[in-house]
Amino acid sequence: MPAVRFLPDEVVSAAVSGETLLQAARRAGVPLASACGGEAACSTCRVLIIEDPAGLEPPPEEEAAVLAPLGAEAAVRLGCRARVRGPVTVRRLVIYENDEAVTTRWKAEPEPLGRERMVGVLFADLRGFTAFSESLLPYDVVHVLNRFYALAEASLDRHAGRIATYLGDGFMALFGAEEAVGEPALRAVRAGLSLIDAVDGWKPYLVALHGRGLEVSVGVHFGPAVVGALGHGESRIVTAVGDVVNTAARIEQANRGFGTHLLVSEAVMRVAGEHLAASALPPVGLPGKSGRHVLYAVTGVRP
Ligand code: FES
Repeated sequence: MPAVRFLPDEVVSAAVSGETLLQAARRAGVPLASACGGEAACSTCRVLIIEDPAGLEPPPEEEAAVLAPLGAEAAVRLGCRARVRGPVTVRRLVIYENDEAVTTRWKAEPEPLGRERMVGVLFADLRGFTAFSESLLPYDVVHVLNRFYALAEASLDRHAGRIATYLGDGFMALFGAEEAVGEPALRAVRAGLSLIDAVDGWKPYLVALHGRGLEVSVGVHFGPAVVGALGHGESRIVTAVGDVVNTAARIEQANRGFGTHLLVSEAVMRVAGEHLAASALPPVGLPGKSGRHVLYAVTGVRP
């Protein structure tokens, strides 16, 4: 059984030939971080070989694919991919205080911190809310926002969506983040249409109470994202990270320029277009994104 020495822990693990450094570390209680759960999709399990590099098998392709873009030197290996074949000494590289708690959940929960999923992302924003709220008492503002969120949650619930982030007078919602139910992109668009209707129906109430109504604008995009829990303890939230999120936010903002209420991306049209009453708009630049993008104004769902 080859001896694997982990630094700075000074723990020696009797490894089984062919197992990974991560497996050897876990068995010996060494807190080698593994944010992606050992899927070669992060770099938190990085180690530096200190002695006996021949004690590890050469890096497989997927390991090189992670480390090369980071410019890592040859002595740096991924703990979840480096397989043991002889005695070796390695130093964990992710060793800052609290890193273990932040990047590893294997002790309590053998699930990775994130999973890649195809998600529908919906951004919604109450148009002109800042001006609207200026004339309101702070408690009235809270009341109006809570009414809005109640309408939003009802619309999302009907289409199996979930608010992932509140953004003051708007929010981000995810479809398909936890499990693949139906078609996430189409459900997101349906939820957006339902929310627009709900806010329309709410208008008379607002006009009667506050002298003016509100409108909502919605942007929907569809694509891959890493869905995972962010934050600590009670404040942990399940959310999505990826370009699809940033793009969805930009799509929602494009409503202002076009004077539309619900815009979707070409990616949404590709997977759900046959169900949507939508028209293509002239290509437009999106802040922070290269090139020009064709967005579609959706007015309804085909029967
Ligand atoms: S645990 Fe993520 S790459 Fe090794």
